[in-house]
Amino acid sequence: MKVLTVLGARPQFIKAAPVSRALRRSHEEFLVHTGQHYDDAMSDLFFRQLGIPTPDVNLEIGSGAHGAQTGAMLAGIEAVAIEQRPDRLLVYGDTNSTLAGALAGAKLHIPIAHVEAGLRSYDRRMPEEVNRVVTDHLSDLLLCPGQVAVGNLAREGIAKGVHVVGDVMFDAFCDHLETALGTCTVLGDMGLEPGSYQLLTAHRAENVDDPGALARIMRGVDDSGCQVVFPVHPRTRAAMRGAGLEPGPNVRLIDPVGYLEMLVLEHGAQAIVTDSGGVQKEAYFAGRPCITLRDSTEWTETVACGWNVLVGTDPRTIAEAMRTFRPTGGRPQLFGDGRAAERIVDCLGQ
Ligand code: UD1
Ligand code: UDP
Repeated sequence: MKVLTVLGARPQFIKAAPVSRALRRSHEEFLVHTGQHYDDAMSDLFFRQLGIPTPDVNLEIGSGAHGAQTGAMLAGIEAVAIEQRPDRLLVYGDTNSTLAGALAGAKLHIPIAHVEAGLRSYDRRMPEEVNRVVTDHLSDLLLCPGQVAVGNLAREGIAKGVHVVGDVMFDAFCDHLETALGTCTVLGDMGLEPGSYQLLTAHRAENVDDPGALARIMRGVDDSGCQVVFPVHPRTRAAMRGAGLEPGPNVRLIDPVGYLEMLVLEHGAQAIVTDSGGVQKEAYFAGRPCITLRDSTEWTETVACGWNVLVGTDPRTIAEAMRTFRPTGGRPQLFGDGRAAERIVDCLGQ
C-alpha cells in the first residue's frame, strides 16, 4: 500500500514521527511537507531530533491568510497526489495543512485517514475547530485517541470507519522522554532547578492576535509572582512586538525549543500554563498541573479528572490558578498505552 502523508506544522511532526516509523516497516510512504512552518526551530529541528524521514516534497507554501494559505496548499497537494496515485492519504490534527490535505484527497477520491479524529472544542471561532469538523466529515478512517472523540463523532452521525487507537503524542512522549532527560542540558544551561519554575506557551490566534487578550494573559502571569519560562512561538513574538508588550522580571522569554528540550522543561515544571492542544496532553503525561488559557478545550478528559483547569484570559483567575492549582486525584491512563502508531498502521492496512 502507498500512503501519502501530509504534514506542515510543528505538532504534526511530533505526531507523524511514531506513525511514519511503524508505517514504513510494511508499507510505502510518500511524505509531503506543506511548508506551513519553515523556521529551523519550528520544522527541521524536529525532523532531526525525532528521526523523521526527509519529506519527499516540500511545497514551501509558508505563511498567509487562511484562504490563500489553504488554497495554495490544496493546489500543491492535489498536483502531487495526481502524480503519486496513493492508495490512502493520511492527515494529522487540525491545522490548515490538515484541511488542505483532506480536501485534496476528497476531490480525487483518495480514501482519507485522519489521526486525532473526533476532537471538538465546540467553539467554531477557532480555525482549528473548523478544520477538524470538515476533515472528519471527509475522512474514511477516523482514528480517535479515546472514547470521548468517538462520542463526538457519533453525535454528528459518523460511526463508520471509527477506531480508537490511543494517542500518538503519548507514543512520542514514551519514545523520547528517557533520551531527553538523559541528554538534554536545557535546565542546567538556563540555571534552573526542577520544580522551581512554571512553563508557559501561548500561540492560539484568539489569544495572541487580540492585543487585549495577550496583555491580559501577560498581566496574569506577571501578577502570579511565579518564576516562568516562556518559549515564544513566532506568531506570539510578532504580536508582542506589535503591541509593545514587555513581560515582567519573573518571566524568561526564550526562542521556541526542540521537542527533547520541551520534554525536559515540561518534566521539570511545577505547573504548565498553555493554550496549546499538545502541551495540555503532555502536562497530563508528565503528571504536571495544567492551567489552560482558554474557555474550552478539546481535551475534556484532562479537566474532568482534575489535572487541567480552564482559566480563559482573566488576569486574576490566571494568577490565582498559577499560585494555587494543584491536582489531588489519580491520573488514569486516558491516552492509551504508547502503541497507537501500530494500531493506526493496522487500521490503514485493513
Ligand atoms: C498553526 C495552526 C495551529 C497550531 C499551530 C502549531 C492553523 C490555522 N493553525 O498556527 O492550529 O496550533 O500551528 O504551532 O493551521 N511563523 C514564523 N515561522 C514559522 C511559522 C510561522 O515566523 O516557521 C509566523 C508567521 O508570522 C506566521 C505566523 O507565525 O504568519 C502564524 O503561522 P501559521 O502557520 O499561520 O499559524 P500558527 O499560529 O503557527
Ligand atoms: N513544542 C516544542 N517546542 C516549543 C513548544 C512546543 O517542541 O517551543 C512541542 C510540544 O512539546 C508539543 C507540540 O510542540 O509536542 C505542540 O505544538 P503546538 O503547541 O505548536 O501546537 P498545538 O498542539 O496547540 O496545535
